[in-house]
Amino acid sequence: MEIILSAKDIYKTYKTASGEVHALNGVSADFEKGLFYAVIGRSGSGKSTLLHILSGLDRPTGGSVTVAGTDLSSYSDGRMAVFRRRHMGFVFQQFNLLDDYNVLANITMPLKLDGRKADPQFLKEVTELLGLADKLKKYPSELSGGEQQRCAIARSVLAKPQLIFADEPTGNLDKRVGEETVALLRESARRFGQTLIVVTHDSDIARRADHVIHIEDGRVV
Ligand SMILES: Nc1ncnc2c1ncn2[C@@H]1O[C@H](COP(=O)(O)OP(=O)(O)OP(=O)(O)O)[C@@H](O)[C@H]1O
Ligand SMILES: [Mg+2]
Repeated sequence: MEIILSAKDIYKTYKTASGEVHALNGVSADFEKGLFYAVIGRSGSGKSTLLHILSGLDRPTGGSVTVAGTDLSSYSDGRMAVFRRRHMGFVFQQFNLLDDYNVLANITMPLKLDGRKADPQFLKEVTELLGLADKLKKYPSELSGGEQQRCAIARSVLAKPQLIFADEPTGNLDKRVGEETVALLRESARRFGQTLIVVTHDSDIARRADHVIHIEDGRVV
């Protein structure tokens, strides 16, 4: 087994006008290459905060995050942004597609920003797997919610990141489409050896994960 991502004793304290919020209180977790992890817990328990810290979008107040042997705290913000673009994919609840670009331009954007080109064979494979092959010329406003979500998933896997982070990716979808979408995400991750970390409220989705990480009051329980 190969540990791709490791969090050691993570603390995160937010300073707010009304005082400090201790969002994470000593979270440790190891993530193996190629496995699917579900992160569950009540609203406000610290799930999104944990995802932001694991993916280097935010920095912990204490503890360390190591990706493929590199401590993320050694990266400047600029290098962290480049590292994220190369090695991590993101799927968020609001899809974050660019309205003025068609599907093809949207899903290849992270590669383009990185000065890379999509491998045509892989592009074909991913868009066929996700049922987007005949929608590449369409604009996000012309797609259903499920199609937009699959577009966000295609974008997250195309750059072949080692890690895919998804924060309630099915929150805007009906239950059946949501489950199909996670199945697709999982299939992509399995075929391409990616580690998938998904925050979800859906217990049926969590049941399909290789491991479930339950967060309560900023701790793993
Ligand atoms: N930027 C911030 N500034 C201050 N407090 C924050 C900030 N982000 C989150 N918090 C607080 O940290 C705690 C954990 O929040 P977090 O967003 O991680 O929860 P969550 O488990 O993702 O909840 P949900 O299921 O509702 O999305 C909460 O008490 C929240 O109010
Ligand atoms: Mg959240």
